[in-house]
Amino acid sequence: MSRSAHPAGPRYADVLPEGHYTAPPTDLNALDPRVWSRTVTRNAEGAATVGGIDVKRLAEEFGTPAYFLDEDDFRARCRAWRDAFGDEADVFYAGKAFLSRAVVRWLHEEGLNLDVCSAGELATALDAGMPAERIALHGNNKSAEEITRAVEAGVGRIVLDSFQEIVRVAHIAERLGKRQRVQIRVTVGVEAHTHEFIATAHEDQKFGLALAGGQAAEAVRRALKLDGLEVIGIHSHIGSQIFDTSGFEVAAHRVVGLLKEIRDEHGIELPEIDLGGGLGIAYTPEDDPREPHEIAKALGDIVTRECAAAGLAVPRLSVEPGRAIVGPTAFTLYEVGTIKELPGLRTYVSVDGGMSDNIRTALYDAEYSVALVSRTSTAAPMLSRVVGKHCESGDIVVRDAFLPADLAPGDLLAVPATGAYCRSMASNYNHALRPPVVAVKDGAARVIVRRETEEDLLRLDVG
Ligand code: LLP
Repeated sequence: MSRSAHPAGPRYADVLPEGHYTAPPTDLNALDPRVWSRTVTRNAEGAATVGGIDVKRLAEEFGTPAYFLDEDDFRARCRAWRDAFGDEADVFYAGKAFLSRAVVRWLHEEGLNLDVCSAGELATALDAGMPAERIALHGNNKSAEEITRAVEAGVGRIVLDSFQEIVRVAHIAERLGKRQRVQIRVTVGVEAHTHEFIATAHEDQKFGLALAGGQAAEAVRRALKLDGLEVIGIHSHIGSQIFDTSGFEVAAHRVVGLLKEIRDEHGIELPEIDLGGGLGIAYTPEDDPREPHEIAKALGDIVTRECAAAGLAVPRLSVEPGRAIVGPTAFTLYEVGTIKELPGLRTYVSVDGGMSDNIRTALYDAEYSVALVSRTSTAAPMLSRVVGKHCESGDIVVRDAFLPADLAPGDLLAVPATGAYCRSMASNYNHALRPPVVAVKDGAARVIVRRETEEDLLRLDVG
């Protein structure tokens, strides 16, 4: 799901049916810092290291497939977001990208807030000590139980997503003798330039209440009348893996327009707006994401300008990056198994995982890069497709890759930028055991989510 096909360059369309390849990279051994986490490099023997540890050692100790998460990089990205937005804004990490107790503790220590969208994510956040007032609850179909647990815990905000939910949350809060802080999620009608399944602010989809046609204004009208709710602001999320800020600018313009309508109709200025997450990362070196400070400046400027034009005080801004924080911080390590050459087409390289640990290629046509990491090689580039071990021809991890022609079973491959939406969307398809997440820092590695076992699988099977 890179923004587009690769830019113009020498093509291999004559041998490659899809015809969307650039020339092989000049150095297959290079680990491009645009897609690898900060501490990844190669040691003198040619093996890749992360946090100072050789991937061969990691594979021996933790097995493959496994996700290795660079803790320093994760923390540095949290700080970059927090510092870019400063004290006048709040950064909520979107837990759906990847959540575990360790991650919650890092977020807490680095001063970030947390967006959760299910009882399970809420339970993880609370269990690991995230203060409830720094948690936001999302979701288009929150159950009464989820709402009750969130209100009881005292979450800082619930983002309301429908007319029915306005009433539901108000009743639950009243019953518990509380007044719940809420934002109202609106759809601003922006078509984010991204895959259809992950764009969320056009009108024909399940999230939010549309600005167009007055649903959003009506939602505010209804919510303001209910004692159980304290309406603190408006929320907008326009999609995911977005590379420019223009969609956010249109969203900010429209959200501020609603704040002005609310002021004119009700005589109140809502104090907060949230512009959601969705900032893109580099999955391949062709992707060119914006830095947090650029995003913070663009969003801050537009909100300030729009509010000045509308005669409104500038509301407190919040954002919800998930992928942009955790995505680049991890890679998946696989062992090469069967290698099958299809003459005139490409070589299929099978690894010991697949769509059960990374569904994104099959689901969104996502593009990834891959490298041989257990050693270097001077062999010629071999056009490859890295596939998994599942019973599906669509079980592709990296659709188009050049790997060295001397690749052999037992070599280790790593796919970078798999920190977001890989472990969190992993499945047990074919009764695969979901891989562990191992945090690496300063020469030490520790499991933060352990590998599933056959006992785990069989424990659920009670028939
Ligand atoms: N806020 C809201 C309300 C969201 O729905 C999402 C993502 C985020 C923030 C975080 O978006 P991020 O910054 O991580 O892009 N599973 C897909 C993307 C769906 C994301 C759904 N919501 C993927 O693998 O790309």
